Amino acid sequence: MTRHVFYRLTVIVGLAVALACSTQRAFAQTDAAPPLPKTDVVVWHVPAFDALPDDENGRLARYGRSIIEATYAHIGPDVANPAARYAGNNLACANCHLRAGLKKFGLPLIGASADYPAYSARSGTVSSLFDRVNQCLKRSMNGQPMREEDRPMQAILAYLDVLSTNIPADATITGAGAGAMPELDRAADPSRGAIVYARNCADCHRRDGLGVRRNAVLPEMGYAVPPLWGPDSFNDGAGTARLITLANFVHDNMPNGTSWIAPTLNPDDAWDVAAFVLSQPRPQLAGIERDFPDLLLKPVDAPYPPYADRFPVEQHRFGPFAPIRADIARLKETRGEIPNPNIR
Ligand code: HEC
Ligand code: HEC
Repeated sequence: MTRHVFYRLTVIVGLAVALACSTQRAFAQTDAAPPLPKTDVVVWHVPAFDALPDDENGRLARYGRSIIEATYAHIGPDVANPAARYAGNNLACANCHLRAGLKKFGLPLIGASADYPAYSARSGTVSSLFDRVNQCLKRSMNGQPMREEDRPMQAILAYLDVLSTNIPADATITGAGAGAMPELDRAADPSRGAIVYARNCADCHRRDGLGVRRNAVLPEMGYAVPPLWGPDSFNDGAGTARLITLANFVHDNMPNGTSWIAPTLNPDDAWDVAAFVLSQPRPQLAGIERDFPDLLLKPVDAPYPPYADRFPVEQHRFGPFAPIRADIARLKETRGEIPNPNIR
């Protein structure tokens, strides 16, 4: 990073922090010294991709953006070159990482470069950003991992790097993930969700959940509206196959065009429609019973066994999650860890 960029970055972060502090003071009105603010990046300052120089890195990053936006056309299961077929479905990364990773609470990819390497509880190993991208390829895209040196992977990594150019490594970003609305104290209800689906989703995603292809005979042209279940959707090992992730994503982003500032669905409807979507058939990933070597680190809403606790699969799929969480906390105290019996 050049000094110049670093200086600009410091000014921007400084401004954001100053802004955050001044609003905090305006609300709090106390003389006590405010707690040291974490570097919380509120305004994301992303370089303009089209203004990147026409050199190797600029071209690679723009190619990466194109892969994120039109994954199906570059590495989808129906592209002409069989060796390039890494994704197993015709989704685009940007169908979930909305606006190619630039939308708050739309699973943004800002700052991702700085988050890795990181410990992955799912694999029990430290994983790099490259491993993390492959997890989405394998699960969200129901496909095959790439090698790090493969050009599409290099391009995706270059894109992600540019997204994070102005985000300090120790910063948290506001708008990360898909949000966290309050949980229900009942199980989410797929049959109520079916009614919500018919009213709020079926016009676009269709009654059969299979979405709308751009071209009926050329699947490599992807979807105008992506499928939510069926053979061309994400598999059961994907993050989106977890109720908490999906319900929040839908609440903050769907019907498409919705923003977290003004959600369309109320939380009950979002939980129930997510339960309905996740009760429909989708591809199954072989070997997921070996995820999470320490079962106490498995998310409460992972929809597949084994579990550390004795709650039924149904409750892990649809909630309520608070009783499971309490049990996990107790087990963590008494047992420390619970090894996954499927790993030897
Ligand atoms: C079906 C939806 C879906 C698709 C398609 C998808 N992802 Fe993801 N991705 C997710 C979810 C959910 C997460 C987890 C977010 C979280 O943990 O909060 C995630 C996480 C990630 C992360 C880690 C982000 C971070 O900050 O830790 C990266 C990087 C990523 N995806 C890249 C990709 C790429 C590249 C593609 C396309 C090849 C892709 N994803 C396709 C849903 C998807
Ligand atoms: C106005 C049309 C429209 C409506 C209505 C709509 N969606 Fe979507 N949805 C889309 C589009 C388009 C995308 C892809 C967004 C993109 O690529 O930028 C999408 C993406 C998604 C995704 C992530 C990608 C995937 O295929 O898994 C999910 C999940 C989703 N929608 C669920 C829902 C649910 C549930 C509802 C009803 C509450 C809903 N949507 C209503 C158009 C719509």
